Amino acid sequence: MLRENDRGTYTVPTRGLYPFQWNWDSCLTALGQRHFDEARAWLEIETLFAHQWPDGMVPHIVFHVPSDGYFPGPEVWATNRLVPTSGITQPPVAGFSVKRLFTEARDKTPARARAAELLPKVDAWHRWFYAMRDPQGEGLVAILHPWESGRDNSIDWDEAFRRVPSDGIEPYTRRDTQHADPSHRPTKEQYDRYLWLVQLFRGLGWDNARLHDASPFRVVDPGFNAILIRSCNALADVAEALGEASIAADNRARAARGLAALERLWSAPHGQYLCLDRTNGALIDSASIGGILPVFAAIPKARAEEIARTIERQSERLRYVVASHDPADPRFEAKRYWRGPAWLVTNYMIADGLRSAGHPALADRIVAMSLELITQSGFAEYYDPVTAEPCGGGRFTWTAAMVLEFLATEGQNGSPT
Ligand code: DGY
Repeated sequence: MLRENDRGTYTVPTRGLYPFQWNWDSCLTALGQRHFDEARAWLEIETLFAHQWPDGMVPHIVFHVPSDGYFPGPEVWATNRLVPTSGITQPPVAGFSVKRLFTEARDKTPARARAAELLPKVDAWHRWFYAMRDPQGEGLVAILHPWESGRDNSIDWDEAFRRVPSDGIEPYTRRDTQHADPSHRPTKEQYDRYLWLVQLFRGLGWDNARLHDASPFRVVDPGFNAILIRSCNALADVAEALGEASIAADNRARAARGLAALERLWSAPHGQYLCLDRTNGALIDSASIGGILPVFAAIPKARAEEIARTIERQSERLRYVVASHDPADPRFEAKRYWRGPAWLVTNYMIADGLRSAGHPALADRIVAMSLELITQSGFAEYYDPVTAEPCGGGRFTWTAAMVLEFLATEGQNGSPT
């Protein structure tokens, strides 16, 4: 699968539905590629960072070659880059992946050189996040578009989306629903608002210094922040190994502040973290996987314990965990993208976090269920957690990459470093 979707210097998530390079897909794909071609794995991340913006942002899509099979394409984003990119970002997995490629490398000398090249670039991205997406210095960054979370149509965004208008949008034709079952995808109402936000940001010249305060959608996602915190600590580890003391210190400080601030998002009644709407300072009553993912960062043991219990509760209702939304919530939809289905990438991060937090048995069950899903239903984009039905796109790169990672760590009691 990884070879089939390889375009030489980057990998497409799947043919048809996603014909370009996606940010967090690529960083997770490299983790699979490293098992059979370490040089190719480094190249995947290097290609992404070759398209980093001057201000430090790493865009969520790089449109390497034209394709009319995807909407919204470069002409809608109009970001005025030599190689067109989108104008928003995605979960910052790169720091975590760089550390994993570096510490697990069989080929140590090139790994050192390639990590050293990437180090200041990933650091600049982390700095960008706290400067542009946390202008008041709260320690947590906001996303300005649901696509930035990677969990495009999560129930988390429903309430905040009511404030996003949908008037004045240029006419458009969706392409995703030609490649995947429309009942597995976001709705038209959601697409209208996704595009309204893109048009707003485009009208502001993609000037990141202006976007945060101008956006009617500003949400602090605990999962997104946890990935950033984990990546900051991972980058600090790599920086220490390479003798880059100031990059190490900056990233440790970011992670420590982020972890302390995350406490504000904890909800005892839900047994997990919740998103926070930064436009009104209120927590969002939506128990999604975004509030379970913080176990991927070094959260307090007691919090990880509660999260483990929450997942156990889920597994009483579902054949496969971890669902992208609480199945006890009437808004749960088993087949619709991020409103219920199980995904191998989130299972990977959650299993890793549970293992480090002292819950190896639950981590092993999540890995076993993930492997059962691909055995039964192939390398789908995501799965119905009740029936294991494959959903979304097929022959999916990051699903295959996660399988390689699961097989490598299975039975070794080994946590990804
Ligand atoms: C899509 O087009 O579905 C993507 O998730 C947005 O990046």
